[in-house]
Amino acid sequence: MSGIDYEPLSLDISEVGRELVDFNIEQVRRLVDEHLSEPYSIYVYRFFLNNWPNLTIMAKHQGKVIGCIISKVEPHRDSRIRGYIGMLAVDNEYRGQGIAKELISRSLDSMIDNYKCDEIILETEVVNKAALRLYENFGFLRVKRLFRYYLNKHDALRLILPVSEKSTIRSTFLPKLENSMESKY
Ligand SMILES: CC(C)(COP(=O)(O)OP(=O)(O)OC[C@H]1O[C@@H](n2cnc3c(N)ncnc32)[C@H](O)[C@@H]1OP(=O)(O)O)[C@@H](O)C(=O)NCCC(=O)NCCS
Repeated sequence: MSGIDYEPLSLDISEVGRELVDFNIEQVRRLVDEHLSEPYSIYVYRFFLNNWPNLTIMAKHQGKVIGCIISKVEPHRDSRIRGYIGMLAVDNEYRGQGIAKELISRSLDSMIDNYKCDEIILETEVVNKAALRLYENFGFLRVKRLFRYYLNKHDALRLILPVSEKSTIRSTFLPKLENSMESKY
């Protein structure tokens, strides 16, 4: 769809000013609260934004946030770099126009090119056919069913996109990453 701008949500107030930063965060929160079943506190958003400033990407139409994706990257078992897509949502009236595809594509490019991810994972509800089809078309594979994973008691499916050969090898057989600790958080 034309007229949609894609931009990272920067916390740098020297760039756009505090008001716009707060406004962007509030709009992203509204979108996620409305469309995802899990509630997230402001600290969750700040955690993602502080640590991975380029991995919260907004889709905007006429200044309004109408889509967003929030991801992070961490070492996994000290042996590979794992990206994680935490949240993705698009406003009802903008769906079916490729906005989620564009957000995912930008997030994957950044995690692979800038963070050198070996693999990227996410969870989605078993009943969320739209999300499953969307991610599987990117090459994500189903690896695990997580029983009653969500607060609404729905099961989740964990999906993985293998990027490098490391993703296909058990961590026991991989050398430790240099200068890396298991997840800081
Ligand atoms: C899932 C969601 C992000 C899709 O957003 P969108 O912008 O409409 O998606 P796109 O237009 O980019 O569609 C991309 C692909 O998703 C799949 N898809 C999207 N909506 C679908 C639907 N209603 N049924 C089946 N497949 C669907 C299709 O494969 C589609 O590709 P195609 O049009 O080439 O067939 C949106 O429906 C949403 O926000 N849902 C609520 C929140 C959510 O479920 N988030 C994901 C889980 S974390």
